Amino acid sequence: MGIYLAPSILSADLLQLEKQVRLVAANGADFIHIDVMDGHFVPNLTFGPNMVKAIKRIVTIPLDVHLMISNPDEYIDDYVKAGADILTVHQEACTHLHRTVQNIHQQGIKAGVALNPATPLSAVEDILEELDLLLIMSVNPGFGGQKFIPRSLNRIARVRQMAEDCNPDLLLEVDGGINPETAREVVGSGANVLVAGNAIFGSKHIVEATLNIRQAAETAATGERSV
Ligand code: DX5
Ligand code: ZN
Repeated sequence: MGIYLAPSILSADLLQLEKQVRLVAANGADFIHIDVMDGHFVPNLTFGPNMVKAIKRIVTIPLDVHLMISNPDEYIDDYVKAGADILTVHQEACTHLHRTVQNIHQQGIKAGVALNPATPLSAVEDILEELDLLLIMSVNPGFGGQKFIPRSLNRIARVRQMAEDCNPDLLLEVDGGINPETAREVVGSGANVLVAGNAIFGSKHIVEATLNIRQAAETAATGERSV
């Protein structure tokens, strides 16, 4: 299974955004991760559909849109029209999660579900086979630059096991505190999509930082799983 790296523009320099996004897209990024926060589901505000639309104009790699918002159903159309290729909603924000996932699929794009660190994996057990992507939050959502929660490794390994029969191609994404060291660990546990914000855009050498995480992840992918 391939490894996908998704730099998160949350930590990018907004005044250099075009340059930085083009740079990662040309040097090891597989997706661009766009964090949408509404100041309600999470205590922070970030981007809306206009940002997705703007980034779509400058790169051809898929846009991985992470909705950290309440009532995501109301906004699916807007993000699809803006150019999202993968749309991920939080389980905690969806009363009718199955319907939400269906709504995303009906628009012809990939559907993902994210789980906060304290949400039991059983919350997605009965929908796992319908998903293109499951996102394990390895920090509490809302901010970049937080420390990786070690328990996430166990969660990743268990989800990968849960999906083994019902959805072997599931994209298993990890978001929060990813650097070369944690990249190695999460891939060893079964993750194959890595989001990294601060470790890439917080670095003075964006290309080198991107390639370092990529290399760490790929080395781990070719070795034995650690769990
Ligand atoms: C956190 C966001 C992340 C964030 C990760 O709520 O969902 O995508 O950008 O940032 P780092 O890699 O800095 O932990
Ligand atoms: Zn994110």
